[in-house]
Amino acid sequence: MSKARLLTGTRTTGSLHIGHYWGTIRNWIALQNDYECFIGAMDWHGMTSLYKNTHEIMKFNREIIAELVAWEINPEKTTLFIQSLVPEHLELFIIFANLTPMGWLERVPTWKDSEEENRQADTHNLGRFAYPVLQAADIAIYRGQVVPVGQDQVAHLELSREIIRRCNSLYKLKLPEPKPVLTDTPVLLGLDGRKMSKSYNNGILMTEEESSLKKKTNAMVTDPARVRRNDPGDPEKCSVFSYHKLYTGQDEQAEIISGCKSAALGCGDCKAKLFNNMNKKMQEPREKKKELLNQPQLLDQIIDAGCTKARQEAQGTLKIIKDAMKL
Ligand code: TRP
Ligand code: SF4
Repeated sequence: MSKARLLTGTRTTGSLHIGHYWGTIRNWIALQNDYECFIGAMDWHGMTSLYKNTHEIMKFNREIIAELVAWEINPEKTTLFIQSLVPEHLELFIIFANLTPMGWLERVPTWKDSEEENRQADTHNLGRFAYPVLQAADIAIYRGQVVPVGQDQVAHLELSREIIRRCNSLYKLKLPEPKPVLTDTPVLLGLDGRKMSKSYNNGILMTEEESSLKKKTNAMVTDPARVRRNDPGDPEKCSVFSYHKLYTGQDEQAEIISGCKSAALGCGDCKAKLFNNMNKKMQEPREKKKELLNQPQLLDQIIDAGCTKARQEAQGTLKIIKDAMKL
């Protein structure tokens, strides 16, 4: 039995942070054995925010691919590609653009609810509006059958399904309607206890350097009730502990809970434990990522091989579609 094909990717906007890791990439790593995976650095999607800084896009693309390989996305199994190097995405995008009524896009919550924000950021434009159409093309161009999504992305995928369904019915095609694989995506708070976001500059990178990881863990906010060293704390009110839940083993977590509640454990020591555990997890990928970025030919090879395979698939799909359309 051949495996079902999975398509996913991440918008190229900069370095990946641990929010990406826990929210999506950790799931991809686990899913790559069960599915035939295609994973893209989606730089046309990234351009919605980076269109004034296009010189950074290729650097970020390369960093993303190196990051994924360093965290054990296996390029022998998974096809890793860069969206803009597979121009067939755009041909299918313009086909889809014509069969997508404006009303479908106007209703998308991520558009509707952020119009003002987009105006402020100078991203209230056609590219941003058409974002979900390109996303549908990303999936259909590989005849993707499943897409891993968090609960917040289900609406986007539903729109992709509608567009693909309309295309199938207009041109008598049989493109698969992609099904969501629901993944749990824990919300990780930023260092300051607010939502982790690039604009707040309160995040930790997926492979943070040791020295800056130390600084960042030290600067995290703790239970505000713990003013003095002898005040007892409540781990459930502390963002340091929300990280311990992800990075620290059960036994050590139990020690921290009792130590915090009895004030036997100081916040400085608690943060040092967190630093150690996070650092341990990042050590190997950090070295592997550096190795890849220091050997551009090796990384080029991985990218070329992935894009070649992706293009073959994409060209095959486009031919089927254009034939059906009698183009
Ligand atoms: N929109 C996704 C994000 O925000 C990236 C993406 C682009 C994507 N095309 C896709 C995800 C196709 C799944 C399938 O990161
Ligand atoms: Fe938070 Fe740890 Fe301090 Fe308790 S001891 S308040 S869990 S940092």
